Amino acid sequence: MSEPVIAQKSPIPVEVEEGKSYFWCTCGQSSKQPFCDGSHKGSDFTPMKWTAETSGRKFFCGCKMTEGKPMCDGTHKSL
Ligand code: FES
Ligand code: FES
Repeated sequence: MSEPVIAQKSPIPVEVEEGKSYFWCTCGQSSKQPFCDGSHKGSDFTPMKWTAETSGRKFFCGCKMTEGKPMCDGTHKSL
């Protein structure tokens, strides 16, 4: 598996809606961070589907190195 590109070394806050699905960019190449814009095509990466269980602000991982995909777990601090 290839290494993802670090899109940014900080989380990306998004207001999500309960029951709605989101496609988190795993490759780091999307220009619509934290979500997939199709730029992964031709690579080993595919977006990760995530469905919101509650509405509210969530902090998606921007560095792509989190252990708690797709949310930031603080790993970016050690990059
Ligand atoms: Fe990164 Fe689609 S653009 S997973
Ligand atoms: Fe990736 Fe925080 S932004 S772990």
